[in-house]
Amino acid sequence: MDTAIAGAGAPDGWFGMDQRLRGLSPSATLAISERSAALKASGREVYRLGLGQSPFPVPECVREKLRSSAHEKDYLPVRGLERLRAAVAAYHARRHGIMRTGDDVLIGPGSKELMFILQMTVEGELLLPQPSWVSYEPQARLAGRRVHWIPTDREDGRRIDPVALRHCCEGLPRGPRILLLNYPNNPVGTTLGADRLKELAAVARHFGLLVLSDEIYGELNHRAGHVSIARYYPEGAIVSAGLSKWCGAGGWRLGTFSFPERLRSLLDAMTVVASETFTAVSAPVQFAATRAFDGGVEIDDYLDRSRAILQALGRAISARMRASGIAVDEPEGGFYLMPDFSAREKRLKLAGIRSGSDLCESVLQETGVAMLPGSCFGYPESDLSARIAYVDFDGAPALAAARKENGGALGAAFLDTHCGRVLKAVELLCDWFERF
Ligand SMILES: Cc1ncc(COP(=O)(O)O)c(C=O)c1O
Repeated sequence: MDTAIAGAGAPDGWFGMDQRLRGLSPSATLAISERSAALKASGREVYRLGLGQSPFPVPECVREKLRSSAHEKDYLPVRGLERLRAAVAAYHARRHGIMRTGDDVLIGPGSKELMFILQMTVEGELLLPQPSWVSYEPQARLAGRRVHWIPTDREDGRRIDPVALRHCCEGLPRGPRILLLNYPNNPVGTTLGADRLKELAAVARHFGLLVLSDEIYGELNHRAGHVSIARYYPEGAIVSAGLSKWCGAGGWRLGTFSFPERLRSLLDAMTVVASETFTAVSAPVQFAATRAFDGGVEIDDYLDRSRAILQALGRAISARMRASGIAVDEPEGGFYLMPDFSAREKRLKLAGIRSGSDLCESVLQETGVAMLPGSCFGYPESDLSARIAYVDFDGAPALAAARKENGGALGAAFLDTHCGRVLKAVELLCDWFERF
């Protein structure tokens, strides 16, 4: 699908298009999802490793709260339901040791929307580790903001390095800058530990950076060991989270920002934009979200089982890929991997595969496995990495079966039964690669 917007002018001879839209296409993840659905409709077997959506159902206690809140019909406060904002603050205190109050929290229709509003609101250039999640850079372009990519090292799990951050900051003219961090990481699957975060916090403090810390996969740290940079840089880190990934509720559209107190004026400014755009998140969803953020035994158990499944599956498929000579990191959180196919670059080129897009197209056509090329994440077109989201399985029976395993590590038999499509997809991908 190529629906990139060519630029200003009059696309249908009637009205012009804003210059900022030049060259932008619909978000790549949504486009691959539509493309996979179309292929499937034409009768092809498609393995949907393109769109990163939680395979798990929303926990029953949260669904029950949504049902019992269906009568909530009034517009809620722009910043969000007071009870929910308090629950979000309490959640961050309990889980991450971040001492903020409900007054520091803003609720939005997905964290993506809040990120966009932040980009609309605050001044400064954007510093992005390369690779980064698909939407940060297009949002910056829509907001007319300059982006600086910070290279990462494949040998270091493509984690942002404090020395590289320092170099980037030293090379830029003085002025406000926003650093976007995401851990556990989409697209790579690795995360940042306490030591790395402390070092990054020291650089951020030195240069006075505003850090937007995207921790949407924090609860899906496979070892339940997520640490937030807000512990080490409380005065300058906004923590972004939400229901979409750990609670399986992407379609409910609820995201949260938690601000340092000293950034209250930024929260106020974002509230103005929110009031003139989305008004408030759906009322029943906000009531239901209070249940999710309140946590408790049922949620903890749901999360333990989700993590155990993702960890076992991520480990199994990354080991399978490495056995075929595909370079890939050991996953530490979330449900993504970024295999690098460049070990066979010469042979791939001889076969006409010169870019990540060529590679993903060939894999999709020949095996039915849908992935996204590295260029969607800030790499050049020539990069031969791709992102897979290992979520093409039914999470409900998998979660139920994981309960019976009594907390033990989930083995090959479990994965064969419950995650067979992902294993099959990776098998096909490895066979495809081994042909070169
Ligand atoms: C890294 C990352 N951040 C943010 C989001 C946006 O999540 P939501 O808008 O559903 O809160 C996503 C969704 O895919 C993501 O992968």
